[in-house]
Amino acid sequence: MTSQPFLEAVKNRRSIYGISKEAVISDDKIVEIVQEAVKHTPSSFNSQSTRVVVLLGENHNKLWDLTTGTLRKIVPADQFESTEQKMNAFKAGYGTVLFFEDKDVVDGLMQSFPSYAQNFPIWSQHTSGMHQFVIWTALEAEGLGATLQHYNPLIDEEVKAAWSIPDSWQMVAQMPFGKPTAEPGEKDFKPLEERVKVYK
Ligand SMILES: Cc1cc2nc3c(=O)[nH]c(=O)nc-3n(C[C@H](O)[C@H](O)[C@H](O)COP(=O)(O)O)c2cc1C
Repeated sequence: MTSQPFLEAVKNRRSIYGISKEAVISDDKIVEIVQEAVKHTPSSFNSQSTRVVVLLGENHNKLWDLTTGTLRKIVPADQFESTEQKMNAFKAGYGTVLFFEDKDVVDGLMQSFPSYAQNFPIWSQHTSGMHQFVIWTALEAEGLGATLQHYNPLIDEEVKAAWSIPDSWQMVAQMPFGKPTAEPGEKDFKPLEERVKVYK
């Protein structure tokens, strides 16, 4: 393999907000993608601190109903309509991937390697981001559309209760996905010369 198909997939990954429940690939394939990503994505000190929950079918619907209910309690009534529309758009998708980091693993590293202690929580977030990117890109390469959302910590307790999530798992992000029903928005790019320096 050359870098070309990989970079093509990187380029094709976008935030897709319009998604539907129409199946694009089988549930088994979705799970396989997530498992492969979780197995092979790197982590600091090979800690493998990332935890992932895949919600499909009624479980996916339940997540977005639960999030809508939580937001209803805190978003001012006159702004709630647009919030609800957003939640309905995520619920309209096929599934959601939830990303967590296992605090017990991170705490263990902090104790085992005191000289790096302050870095482990940061590296744990980096590790999660890498997993998010790999799964996002792989789902899009299969013809699905996804976005990255952050309704944590607002929904943490309800999610833990609904899916028996261990206490040490800390939620980092939610990734709703489905068959794309809308094109991605315009995207601006800053000049690369400002962002990449090369010395040779
Ligand atoms: C770390 C990170 C956090 C993000 N958080 C959110 C979010 O909470 N909600 C959202 O709709 N998009 C979120 N995004 C998506 C970005 O806004 C989006 O990736 C960026 O505007 C580039 O657009 P693209 O994804 O279409 O390439 C996040 C992206 C990253 C990398």
